[in-house]
Amino acid sequence: MKKVLIFLVTLSTVSNSSLFGWCQSTLKLSKYKTHLEHGTYDQQDWSSFKTKPLSRYDTFKRAFEEFEKMDGHTIVELGTTRSFVHGGLVGCNSDDPQYWTPHNAERWDWGAGCFTRMVSECLEHTNPAIYTIDLASSHIQRCKLITKDFAHHITYYVTSSEKFLSQCSFQIDLLYLDTGNMTPIEETAQLHLREAKIIVKRDLIKSGGLVLIDDVRNQTPKKFGETSEYGKAKYSLPYLLENGFEIIEDGYQVLLRKK
Ligand SMILES: C[S@@+](CC[C@H](N)C(=O)[O-])C[C@H]1O[C@@H](n2cnc3c(N)ncnc32)[C@H](O)[C@@H]1O
Repeated sequence: MKKVLIFLVTLSTVSNSSLFGWCQSTLKLSKYKTHLEHGTYDQQDWSSFKTKPLSRYDTFKRAFEEFEKMDGHTIVELGTTRSFVHGGLVGCNSDDPQYWTPHNAERWDWGAGCFTRMVSECLEHTNPAIYTIDLASSHIQRCKLITKDFAHHITYYVTSSEKFLSQCSFQIDLLYLDTGNMTPIEETAQLHLREAKIIVKRDLIKSGGLVLIDDVRNQTPKKFGETSEYGKAKYSLPYLLENGFEIIEDGYQVLLRKK
């Protein structure tokens, strides 16, 4: 009995590392698996793929596990979770809080990934310092409501990603790159390249740290004539690979590690 008690106490105090290869974030994320998969694949044409790329569920899972294994602390997200409901529903991108249904996850904006909510909820036990950045103050206001239960771990910034990165005074364990829209893609791809250049020049990622890029294999730009396979990462991804990063997960999103 005493041994069981000691085991349970130990288990409850293991806050930031994997135990027997098992991560708390994996368990927490699993309840959102179906939503994340639908959010990745629905309304996209995957006919040119033999098999669909890994979904956001897979790459969030891997990124969160790696973060736990490395005892990570600092997380930065460029481009915040901005809508109470997903595209197509009344209330999408509305400021009206009546559209936020915290107990009905089915309505959340899974098409955009809900990263601020996922990372804060799934990694809360690691006591992270999360910074989420967006140009639009209305988006940050909505995000504050969406992440209300985890706000003690989050600093919300209304500023440009480039300004934040240029002034950032700490190194980052996990960086999520998700600014901009899928159309026009060129504008977003150029923004991501500028962000990547600041990240490298200012050495903002810790050795062994992670960069997760969203929407790399989003098929929307191709509908508008884009030929690159890498969408908004078409310049930033090759740049990061030439500047000390390697791919550790390659799907709808790409997960990189600093060598
Ligand atoms: C696709 S959404 C982010 C989705 C969010 N990461 C999620 O997982 O739900 C893109 C966001 O980037 C923001 N954005 C666009 N350009 C930006 C910039 N230069 N600096 C900061 N935020 C920017 C937009 O206001 C928008 O809220």
